[in-house]
Amino acid sequence: MTAIDAFPVTTHPTETAPVPTTGRVPARTSLPACPQPSRRGSQAPPGRTGRLALARAQVAARYGVSRRRADTAAPQVAETVAAAADLPRSVLDVQLSHRSVRRFLPRPLASSVLPTLVAAAQSAPTSSNLQLWSVVAITDPARLARVARLCGEQEHVRDAPLLLVWVADVARVRALAARRGRAVPATGYLETTVASFLDATLAAQNAVVAAESLGLGTVYLGSVRDAPEALAAELRLPRGAAPVVGLVVGHPDPSCPGRVKPRLPQAAVLHHETYDVERQLRPVAAYERRMVDYYRGEGLEGGWVARALARLRGNGSLRGREHLRSALTALGLPSW
Ligand SMILES: Cc1cc2nc3c(=O)[nH]c(=O)nc-3n(C[C@H](O)[C@H](O)[C@H](O)COP(=O)(O)O)c2cc1C
Repeated sequence: MTAIDAFPVTTHPTETAPVPTTGRVPARTSLPACPQPSRRGSQAPPGRTGRLALARAQVAARYGVSRRRADTAAPQVAETVAAAADLPRSVLDVQLSHRSVRRFLPRPLASSVLPTLVAAAQSAPTSSNLQLWSVVAITDPARLARVARLCGEQEHVRDAPLLLVWVADVARVRALAARRGRAVPATGYLETTVASFLDATLAAQNAVVAAESLGLGTVYLGSVRDAPEALAAELRLPRGAAPVVGLVVGHPDPSCPGRVKPRLPQAAVLHHETYDVERQLRPVAAYERRMVDYYRGEGLEGGWVARALARLRGNGSLRGREHLRSALTALGLPSW
């Protein structure tokens, strides 16, 4: 039995409901004919050669190229994917073991890491397939130092083996429109900015899971939004592009392994059918007790609630991000 067999598929009630024979049949959006996936990749023989062939087929499908061109479309990614098949960790294992890493070994990353993380990022869903994001990879120590200065001088930025700045990007689609003499007024609405932020975030998180699956450590950097205009200038972002979040990637320092940080109980975040404020209070109180213990284990006083409230106490705690609306407007991304 596979892991999937353990979870029986339930049919949604609407899928089995009889079609009404009287009255008006509700209008339905018809789906296009179901394309059948090519089975050639999955018929590859087992073993390293077979795994490499399968990985090449996956990369080729991701970029819409022939298998011969897979290595050109995403260099070294197929090899990395094939080698990763030997890793004993499942996706769920990687996700549940997540912890942010802020101490890295002074060891450069293999050249295959960046294209692999980008391939994983590009495999994330994207709103209407618009792919409204880009990513800037930074390894130059001088630029890292300048970026660190713009991002609250966090130590792990200055010494990062790799910093990825995920960018909300409507510049590309606007440039394509301009070349065709077409207007894209929908890029002037907040909805498009939100879509681009969502696209960039989903891509970034795919990269996090990929990095962790390869044994690497990561930490996000919301502080790329402390001074987004200055950072956009440093990265030479075109008008219509703005930093969303940074991601430091490196080999975790084993002398500082870090602990998994407990999250709220499911009873506090999971609501059935409708939202229930009252039901959250007891689970949150139980979490607070656990977090006081957690932070004490880290040599710190206090719990989660005080930290959350301090982080949200006002303009000072936003460190410049209170001006995000005007910064986005200045960068050519609509915020209303
Ligand atoms: C959008 C976002 C921005 C973040 N920005 C920072 C940051 O600027 N500096 C930092 O050290 N950690 C940052 N983090 C990491 C969080 O502090 C961390 O995820 C959180 O405390 C939970 O810990 P864990 O990731 O170890 O589970 C950020 C995380 C997210 C999702």
